Amino acid sequence: MNILGIETSCDDTAISIVKDGQTIKSNIIASQVHMHEKYGGIIPEIASREHFLTIIPSIQEALNESGLKHNEIDSIAVTNGPGLAGSLLVGVNAAKGLAMAWDKPVIPINHLEGHIYSGWLDNKNPDKEVGFPLICLIASGGHTEMVLMKDHLSYEIIGKTRDDAAGEAFDKTARVLRLGFPGGPEIQREAQNAEGTIKPFPRPEIKNSLDFSFSGLKTAVVNRAIKEQIYPHSNSNYPNKNTVTEYAFAFQEAIVDTMIRNVSRALKNIAAKGVLLGGGVAANSRLREKMSQTLSVPVIVPKPYLCTDNGAMIASAAYYRIQANGTSNVFDMDVIPNLKLD
Ligand code: KG4
Ligand code: ZN
Repeated sequence: MNILGIETSCDDTAISIVKDGQTIKSNIIASQVHMHEKYGGIIPEIASREHFLTIIPSIQEALNESGLKHNEIDSIAVTNGPGLAGSLLVGVNAAKGLAMAWDKPVIPINHLEGHIYSGWLDNKNPDKEVGFPLICLIASGGHTEMVLMKDHLSYEIIGKTRDDAAGEAFDKTARVLRLGFPGGPEIQREAQNAEGTIKPFPRPEIKNSLDFSFSGLKTAVVNRAIKEQIYPHSNSNYPNKNTVTEYAFAFQEAIVDTMIRNVSRALKNIAAKGVLLGGGVAANSRLREKMSQTLSVPVIVPKPYLCTDNGAMIASAAYYRIQANGTSNVFDMDVIPNLKLD
């Protein structure tokens, strides 16, 4: 079964064709990062306009790259939330249009469910190789959620952020250090040069809870930067290379340790067989390495390019939904910007 996955919830126009939920036949990502980087964050109006311009060429490119004809596509899957309303609308309307033109079913998918199913791509089978229940940690620019997955398509949120998402904290810290956008890969690159003893940042904690809170960590970075006179930015207070490396390393360690601590706590109460990481922050090499070294259960980590937003994860999730529930044409579906996972 070939499924075309459409993902436009944020700033990437991502189109992919996946066979049987696991084999990627094509994976196109039209990144808009160059349009947003000068603002240090995503501008929703620019994002939806860019999706509108790139979606049809990206779908065409995905078909070309797969070598498939449109009549060999069995279903169309699309992210209908959570995300930016104007961005989601472009993907959902394109999906409906294609479904009508090609006479194929269209399946709405929750973006977070997509991040979870990136664990099944590339012919991996966490359910068979590790087994349920799994604890999934989804950490991205908009979300930090710990999800108990007892079976396919069965989710219970056991921990979430009370304020900022992990990716947001990476992006803000990078801005303070005058690094580029998105901040995660920049912080990771700078942190790699760290040596010797480095003054740590706090590990934010909410007592007796599996919830996260990253705004305090963000504030700690800003406060130290103000004290050390590298922030607010002026023409004369650029941080030197060592300062950038030290902040990046200390920040990354604090956020990685916080995530590992909460997952370890969850594992004390829940006999999960493994931990699955997903979302853009799961591309972080330090998080992947330290989580795998620390936990006593297997840690499943999709390849970095499958952690950040992509259409393949949406197609994969749709495959498992079709296996469970079949297909039905849902032309009346709408975008749900604050869609919950349950
Ligand atoms: O999942 P994603 O691509 O989009 C959303 O659904 O938000 O996640 C984007 C976030 C950004 O905040 C970005 O800085 C972060 O993921 N990110 C990383 C890395 N790569 C992307 N954070 C830490 N380390 C990375 N290597
Ligand atoms: Zn995402």
